[in-house]
Amino acid sequence: MRLVILEDYDLASEWAAKYIRNRIVQARPSADRYFTLGLPTGSTPLGCYKKLIEYYKNGDISFKYVKTFNMDEYVGLPRDHPESYHSYMWNNFFKHIDINPANAHILDGNAADLQKECDTFEQKIADAGGIDLFVGGIGPDGHIAFNEPGSSLVSRTRVKTLAQDTILANARFFGNDLSKVPTMTLTVGVGTVMDAREVMILITGAHKAFALYKAIEEGVNHMWTVSAFQQHPRTIFVCDEDATLELRVKTVKYFKEFGAFDRLKSWEWNLL
Ligand code: PGA
Repeated sequence: MRLVILEDYDLASEWAAKYIRNRIVQARPSADRYFTLGLPTGSTPLGCYKKLIEYYKNGDISFKYVKTFNMDEYVGLPRDHPESYHSYMWNNFFKHIDINPANAHILDGNAADLQKECDTFEQKIADAGGIDLFVGGIGPDGHIAFNEPGSSLVSRTRVKTLAQDTILANARFFGNDLSKVPTMTLTVGVGTVMDAREVMILITGAHKAFALYKAIEEGVNHMWTVSAFQQHPRTIFVCDEDATLELRVKTVKYFKEFGAFDRLKSWEWNLL
């Protein structure tokens, strides 16, 4: 595991965007071999998407040979609703870059058979050759995608009922009207994300500090589903200073010493 600590949200977003850009550029994707990216929604990745759009506009990167798979989508919310994750992804990222819409996969929360939709999504990931880099965010309760506390750590894409904490946290997107917040979602499982070759989790803000502590300083626990990534061979947690407030000074100090090694060589991963 690697913990990258940046001073604030903007620097953390920039670091994450550069990491994604570098991975895609290094992979030299082509018509024969696409780069496959797992993507989150939420307020945390907005800064990272902004930077990636900037890199695209500067000509530093192309998404022509990139396939994406989003983590989740609300059940029953119309696709064109401003708060659907389809709308979020198109407005905040996809419409600004050169990705082929056919290569941007988002679960359909209005499918007639929801479980079939989830199974098909898993199959599409497999057909794409698996995910090279899965980027995720977490909730203050330590959920990754919508794998709420108590979710199986080997779960696959499925229908999930949201925890009350998540419904409350999401109410801000629905005019603070709890009755308007969807209560069910389709979400990739913890196991789906664990299968990615590499995972990068963005955690910013003091309100996520306890979750980061549970994620990395205590044991693997299905009540804090993000903690499962302690057992992934290549996970990077990218955070700001505020998110580290509940960590031991010793932990922060140790990982800050790695700060200088922005370009880790593959063998160096074995040391982390
Ligand atoms: P946030 O949501 O980025 O808006 O905090 C993350 C999540 O709940 O997974």
